[in-house]
Amino acid sequence: MFPYIYLLFLLPVLQGCLVVQTPKCECPILALSSSNIAQNVGNHVFYQNVSGYPTASPVVKSEDCSVSMYCEGDYSLVVFDEETATVLGAYSADGICDPRNQKWQVDTGSGAGFTSFDRLFGICVNYVPTCACTYHVINNDAEAKELLSSHVEWPMLSTYKYSTPTLNSETECPTSFECQEGHEKIIVNEWFSIWEGITTFECMSDTKAWTVGLYPFPNKAYLVIGCYKTETCESSIPCSYKAVENPEIDLANHHFYQTNISKYYHSPPQTILSETDKCRLEFADCVSPYALILLDDYDRVLVHLKSWGNVVGKCLAGSKWLVYNQYTFKQFNGICVDFTRLRASDP
Ligand SMILES: *[C@@H]1O[C@H](CO)[C@@H](O)[C@H](O)[C@H]1NC(C)=O
Ligand SMILES: *[C@@H]1O[C@H](CO)[C@@H](O)[C@H](O)[C@H]1NC(C)=O
Repeated sequence: MFPYIYLLFLLPVLQGCLVVQTPKCECPILALSSSNIAQNVGNHVFYQNVSGYPTASPVVKSEDCSVSMYCEGDYSLVVFDEETATVLGAYSADGICDPRNQKWQVDTGSGAGFTSFDRLFGICVNYVPTCACTYHVINNDAEAKELLSSHVEWPMLSTYKYSTPTLNSETECPTSFECQEGHEKIIVNEWFSIWEGITTFECMSDTKAWTVGLYPFPNKAYLVIGCYKTETCESSIPCSYKAVENPEIDLANHHFYQTNISKYYHSPPQTILSETDKCRLEFADCVSPYALILLDDYDRVLVHLKSWGNVVGKCLAGSKWLVYNQYTFKQFNGICVDFTRLRASDP
């Protein structure tokens, strides 16, 4: 079809060339882009079908009076004529300019032969937009396991019950989300989770990085978005804990007590119990220069550095503590130790 039509149009041109002056091919053509689209087709009825999506400029190849306009990648070609608009999708608009009336004859790939266009104003539209930043949505417990089982906080995250979040997005990336009643929001990245005070987040498309609240996440860091419910204890804490007052009794067999703590001044930390969740216990940060030391029943020791704030322990299944959302303790012992003051050795 194409060569035949091409010849048909070329013939008069060649004849004209021989007889009088060759009419020039000056059919209107424009590769639209995000910066010139509103100005050129902003009033077109089809403009709203394009404006909400990511766009790119089409590639235009022309030779004499013929032209080929197409999009690369996942983009769909949309051509705006004066009154109508044609979605060519992955097809290219192969047109020939008829110099006698300066109208385009275009093969739109529909199989219906050539269509006449007064102008060829094209834009590439991504109707299936993808967010430049990586994110995953947790819809249920199985997906949480799939996405998070190698996460450092999995011991904590695995205790939650997950449900589907509803994403809010005005662009190709979500900016916030909602949870069903009774469910809490959680955002997890490669290193930690945030589950309090989350309101919005934003994909920085230039760096492909997320900013969540006030935290800018490093390049390429992913987000996992979900809603969860946590089991709470109705009555008193079933796991064992102690704000240690007499370490010589309570920690007598502990290696770290024998070799270290016993040499320094110490005092018990304050404990804070949750009103609503009887499975939750906090050791308050010790008053300087004391450092908070957390000890398990036997060997495990965590030195909690100053200014980190309180330490939260969560009693899981009534038998073990989860500390810093990562470590499990059979016994949750806290003691404040002043490493700056050695005790005078007993006589
Ligand atoms: C264009 O957008 C309108 C309104 O959003 C919609 O009703 C219509 O189906 C769209 N047309 C095409 C061809 O996408
Ligand atoms: C005791 O442990 C603290 C914290 O790790 C350390 O700074 C200090 O040097 C230790 N003291 C002794 C005597 O081992």
